[in-house]
Amino acid sequence: MEKKTILITGGAGFIGSHVVRRFVNMYPDYTIVNLDKLTYAGNLANLKDIEKKPNYVFVKADIVDENRMKEIFQQYRFDGVIHLAAESHVDRSISHPNEFIYTNIVGTANLLIAARECWKDHTEGKRFYHISTDEVYGSLGKEGLFKETTSYDPRSPYSASKASSDHLVRAFHHTYGLPAVISNCSNNYGSYQFPEKLIPLSINNIRNNKPIPIYGKGENVRDWLFVEDHAHAIDLIFHKGKDGETYNIGGNNEWSNINLIRLLCRILDRKLDRQPGTSEKLITFVKDRAGHDLRYAIDSSKLRRELGWGPSLDFEKGLEKTVDWYLANEEWMNNITSGEYQKYYELQYKLR
Ligand code: NAD
Ligand code: TYD
Repeated sequence: MEKKTILITGGAGFIGSHVVRRFVNMYPDYTIVNLDKLTYAGNLANLKDIEKKPNYVFVKADIVDENRMKEIFQQYRFDGVIHLAAESHVDRSISHPNEFIYTNIVGTANLLIAARECWKDHTEGKRFYHISTDEVYGSLGKEGLFKETTSYDPRSPYSASKASSDHLVRAFHHTYGLPAVISNCSNNYGSYQFPEKLIPLSINNIRNNKPIPIYGKGENVRDWLFVEDHAHAIDLIFHKGKDGETYNIGGNNEWSNINLIRLLCRILDRKLDRQPGTSEKLITFVKDRAGHDLRYAIDSSKLRRELGWGPSLDFEKGLEKTVDWYLANEEWMNNITSGEYQKYYELQYKLR
């Protein structure tokens, strides 16, 4: 295997930690540099099992700092970048859009500028891989799927900032010939997800007998993918995708929020030895999210056809595995749900 130095940004977050783990373990000849600001969502405990590996380096830095990005690129002379660092939670983007604009747009621009400068004499074998979301495509009605050719129509500050960063990546490819590739993925679930997001928040609340807040009537639909299947897709696209291309990644696995939570309740009743129906009583309908997108669903046929990717396990199995992980890692959950998160939670859900 060729020696490479690869920058992974946002590697202390949910998806990033799975990508770092996969690359550190599968590619011992690569040096993996995990660059992360360690915001509330970044947690080095997510990487405890690989932090001592000889091919792993952690750098604490903010992608909004342009000069620092240039220095880091000069120091490590990266062969590839997998860019996941972002502000990622829609509700926070509604209450505080600024951070999303700085990190997601300005931060991505800084990385593009630094990569362009570093690779100006030699782009052969280099790759800038930008990780994005299906939310850039907007909201679907009852029918249809997002394709790579679907027009962008972002509707939250989060998705608008991600759409903006996607456009910048394409512009750098088109204008300067920067070797770049993008993927847009549907909702991920699995271990190490910060409990502000629907699935870990609900597992934690069910475990603690607290209300499960469902926005509106719970009719909104998301297409859920197991996070390790996303990491596998990222590996394939990083190594085999084509420059200038976009790949949609999705589970072909649509669930309305209410049906998903009912399934989760059934699994947890079983795992926690509760009477069937006990956890469902915790379901509480709360005020809807402002501008709440109705439905996301991905057509991932291009990735399946061209790179041979497919999800590895069905949703019920994946969800059960995820529940088992959260129940076995109570300490991880307790550590991050104390302090600052508690304040966020009270503010977010008292208002509804
Ligand atoms: P996350 O919020 O769990 O992690 C984000 C990470 O980025 C954290 O470790 C945080 O510390 C770091 N970070 C934030 N601002 C930074 C900055 N200014 N400089 C350096 N590091 C910074 O997010 P996630 O859910 O793992 O998402 C990762 C990426 O995947 C994001 O780009 C997101 O848009 C995209 N994505 C997420 C999903 C999903 O379902 N979670 C789906 C599709 C795409
Ligand atoms: P979320 O996990 O925040 O992901 P996204 O908004 O990026 O899709 O939310 C998933 C769905 O669950 C979304 O339709 C909003 C809804 N939701 C709730 O009903 N209650 C909650 O407390 C949260 C966090 C989300």
